[in-house]
Amino acid sequence: MPVALVGLPGSGKTAVGRRLAQRLQWDFVDTDQLIEERIGCTIREFFEREGEGRFRDIEAQVIGEQGRTANTVLSTGGGAVLREENRRQLRQSFHVVYLRSSPEDLYRRLRHDVKRPLLQVADPLGRLRELFSARDPLYREVAHESVETGRPSIQALVVEILDRL
Ligand code: S3P
Repeated sequence: MPVALVGLPGSGKTAVGRRLAQRLQWDFVDTDQLIEERIGCTIREFFEREGEGRFRDIEAQVIGEQGRTANTVLSTGGGAVLREENRRQLRQSFHVVYLRSSPEDLYRRLRHDVKRPLLQVADPLGRLRELFSARDPLYREVAHESVETGRPSIQALVVEILDRL
């Protein structure tokens, strides 16, 4: 069964996903990267020009296209779980792993980030707390496994996920 990683921005979906795919000798697919190829600009630019709703439509299209391709690790955008259709698609076609991080840990990692449109606000920690409250239940609903990302290194997280597959 292919694996999909879900979690808030900064939880390590891309870094862990890449390493996990290497260890398994599987393909690594990042939906944000597929979206940027499709829209021909960065996600941040697209949010500014077209708004979040249009971005979510394209995200749903891209997730809908990810079938049951064996031997794939899929990294999703943090908001992929917002739409019910995406949650259904991910849960049906993938073994879904939630990389669970506290807003404080995420803030420490993302303080200087300029790529993520949702965090370009006066109070990014407050925003991360809101995102955590709104989405933690959705990540839990969609996930088959949940892994805490607080302390462990990427390597340790990969080993923990491999143990659970
Ligand atoms: C988003 C997370 C981003 C990207 C977009 C929206 C979100 O992906 O899809 O900026 O709503 O949390 P990452 O989780 O990889 O940062």
